[in-house]
Amino acid sequence: MNHEVIVIGGGPGGYACAIRCAQLGLRVGLVEEQSLGGVCLNWGCVPTKALFAATHLIAHAGTAAEMGIEFGAPQIDVSQLAKWKDGVISTLVSGIDTLLTKNGVEVFTARGRLDGPHAVALSTGETLSADRIVLATGSIPIEIPGFSFEDPAVWSSDDALALTEIPERLAVIGGGVIGLELASIYSRLGSTVTILELLPEILAIIDLDRRTVSTLKRSLKLQGIDVRTKTAATSIETKSEGVVIHTAEDETIPADRILLAVGRRPNTADLGLESVGIEPDRRGTIPVDGQLRTTADGVYAIGDAAPGPMLAHKASAEGVALADALAGHEMRSFDYDVIPQAIFTDPEIASVGLSEQRAKEQGHEILVGRFPYAALGKALGMRQSEGFFQVVADASDHRLLGVQIIGAEASDLISEASIAVENSLSLEVIADAVHAHPTLPEGLKEAAENALGRAIHTINR
Ligand code: NAI
Repeated sequence: MNHEVIVIGGGPGGYACAIRCAQLGLRVGLVEEQSLGGVCLNWGCVPTKALFAATHLIAHAGTAAEMGIEFGAPQIDVSQLAKWKDGVISTLVSGIDTLLTKNGVEVFTARGRLDGPHAVALSTGETLSADRIVLATGSIPIEIPGFSFEDPAVWSSDDALALTEIPERLAVIGGGVIGLELASIYSRLGSTVTILELLPEILAIIDLDRRTVSTLKRSLKLQGIDVRTKTAATSIETKSEGVVIHTAEDETIPADRILLAVGRRPNTADLGLESVGIEPDRRGTIPVDGQLRTTADGVYAIGDAAPGPMLAHKASAEGVALADALAGHEMRSFDYDVIPQAIFTDPEIASVGLSEQRAKEQGHEILVGRFPYAALGKALGMRQSEGFFQVVADASDHRLLGVQIIGAEASDLISEASIAVENSLSLEVIADAVHAHPTLPEGLKEAAENALGRAIHTINR
């Protein structure tokens, strides 16, 4: 065997696994056909957040007159914005390259494919052998009948993030995380945005409470984003000026570009799974056990290719945990309920653990506490008074079951909640910890106090 471990896929799951394996003394090779960092770094999380930050500037400058500061209309140089975003990506990609090299991971730039037990055939013609093989091939966007990424009018999230133009009218099919995040960015860039969602509610597959979703919907409306639920896009018609989307409800929605964001599926086709007897499910997900082992001896799967939420931080956590196991250490177990989720809309949404509704469905007697951003001095000074903190705890022992935050910096604020929920800390632990004033995290403390009926800055229920 040339290697003890071969990892196929250099995204957040794969590269983290490879680095950790090398740190633990294993001889490890990483096979990546495109750019290191995978979708998250190159065409997903990182460019989205760069554009989210850039367009946040536009939104805030636009309303700064309230504070006595006027900027005038923004001049957007699309190619410079794209160049800046690409600079952020390339800094991070070269950082990962350095980390892999310095840790002694051998990187193969090629497409890898299982080729029978313990073998990986590379598109370069070389074949590698390893005791253990980790499949970390991520996911790809799906199409729906009537819409193809081959059509230049139909964008995938990759196309939208390439930032080649700002369409006057952007129709987004799919009111999931990707659709909403990119809708927010393009709306701030000046596109007129319409979101079409098949289901009765946006973000339906995420465990969020109704109050959180309705707060977001109200804000999207104020930003001029037209959200149409119970609307199924069925076909596209090309016109002399742009395109028209037809829906099952007989509506016609004109647009210049369409962003198709109707979900992703594991990128596991043509991976040679059959050569080792692995049978993916209908969507292409590779079944694994609690130790991330597939049905084939010595083959493991992590991240979007395996079951569980399609999130970069889930993939990295699995990659690192698996590396420990491969090096002979005990593997930590995963509770997917305590993996936080952050959604970069305006306002941001972040959650960890159970929603109020799901906690009840699971039979918990619960205590709920809330605190509005509008009562936080820091938030008012930032002109970010929209949103609230919500804590859900078990009424019997006050252990935190879940937290939802909708509002400014929610994606950063959720980390304190994650530690609390993952470790079953009580409302009292959060409420009694002195939080610096004036800061946004005070909102979590206040929500915990509110649940305990001893809040100072809200009326206790
Ligand atoms: P999604 O599954 O979250 O949402 C797709 C939406 O499209 C669904 O609500 C579905 O009902 C709707 N849809 C399907 N067919 C339709 C049609 N014909 N007409 C109208 N609507 C239709 O998928 P999305 O947003 O593409 O995200 C894929 C994955 O990536 C998810 O697992 C997501 O959690 C993950 N992701 C997470 C991010 C984050 O946490 N910040 C960022 C980006 C992706």
